[in-house]
Amino acid sequence: MCKAIIIRNYGDAKVLELEKISLNEPGDRELLIRHTAIGVNYHDIYVRSGLYKTLNLPGIPGCEAIGIIEKIGSGVKNFKKGDRIVYITSDYGAYATHRMLSDHLAIKVPDMISDEVMATNFLRSMTVKMLLEKVTKITLADTILVTAAAGGVGRLLCQWANSLGVCVIGTVSNQNKVSKANSYGCKYTIVCDQNDVVEKVMNFTGGKGVDVVYDSVGSETFEHSLATLKKCGHLVNYGQSSGPVEPLMMSTLAIKSLTVSRPILFHFIEHTEIYHQMAHSVFDFFMSNRLLLPESESYPLKDASITHDILESRRGGGSLYLIP
Ligand SMILES: NC(=O)c1ccc[n+]([C@@H]2O[C@H](COP(=O)([O-])OP(=O)(O)OC[C@H]3O[C@@H](n4cnc5c(N)ncnc54)[C@H](OP(=O)(O)O)[C@@H]3O)[C@@H](O)[C@H]2O)c1
Repeated sequence: MCKAIIIRNYGDAKVLELEKISLNEPGDRELLIRHTAIGVNYHDIYVRSGLYKTLNLPGIPGCEAIGIIEKIGSGVKNFKKGDRIVYITSDYGAYATHRMLSDHLAIKVPDMISDEVMATNFLRSMTVKMLLEKVTKITLADTILVTAAAGGVGRLLCQWANSLGVCVIGTVSNQNKVSKANSYGCKYTIVCDQNDVVEKVMNFTGGKGVDVVYDSVGSETFEHSLATLKKCGHLVNYGQSSGPVEPLMMSTLAIKSLTVSRPILFHFIEHTEIYHQMAHSVFDFFMSNRLLLPESESYPLKDASITHDILESRRGGGSLYLIP
């Protein structure tokens, strides 16, 4: 029997209820997927709470999952029953035991990479790929600042940037996370509740500031992030874990000829060929590097609400996934 988490009204995690669903036969270019592991992202919380009104209600949330193809449509050429695939979609529907998926979204996963590693890291590492190679073009000489360096995207971003030889400065919320951030490749890690982030970044960079800031925290960190940039630096605000950023006066940027961007992964993977190229580069990154990843925690699909509560309480980021 097929089941899915259906959101009928926006609200707290209690609105995530498991219900029976029925699926038709696959259309021409569609695949029937039986999910084996489902990713849980902060985006799902914004969708559930109604901050993002991007899911039509009633609707099934979830933007990424791994699964096995059970049936293929008559026009599908590159897949067969039994293939193991991963996908990201802005059309949601991943919080389900089964789903119908357009074949252009499915990507075969190398055997070496486990379901749990993909479920906790695929969307996040695609985001890192976007940040480091599409949104910015960092060079060996660059120094970057990564907020929430021990968080789900943060730790991958630090490790990937470090593997490129870039000097990484990280911020974390408390002392316990400093050694973690250092192990992810931060040359310097700053505890940001001490209110001296800008001063410390300036000390570490000989008074110049950093070339790029990757800020996922949003309202709490944005102002400091801007202040830590060197002249002509670039602030990439790619998340808002602490809330959306206030409107910005353009003249603030003129003081140091700064640039700011607010990228969304979905826009960078709309083109199928680029989406597949980015995914293969992510697979290569996972297969050729010894990445430090926290132990992952799985929950049954019916307990999706628990994973949202954990994420919102700032625990378990990047390590939670659902099992149908
Ligand atoms: N633009 C895109 O396409 C894209 C793609 C993926 C993710 N994102 C966004 O990036 C952000 C991080 O995602 P993630 O997967 O890395 O999440 P995560 O694993 O849950 O990490 C978020 C981290 O943010 C830090 N944080 C600081 N202030 C916080 C606050 N007030 N509330 C909650 N957390 C706070 C926490 O680290 P400390 O405790 O160390 O501060 C936490 O570990 C989210 O906003 C997500 O939506 C955007």
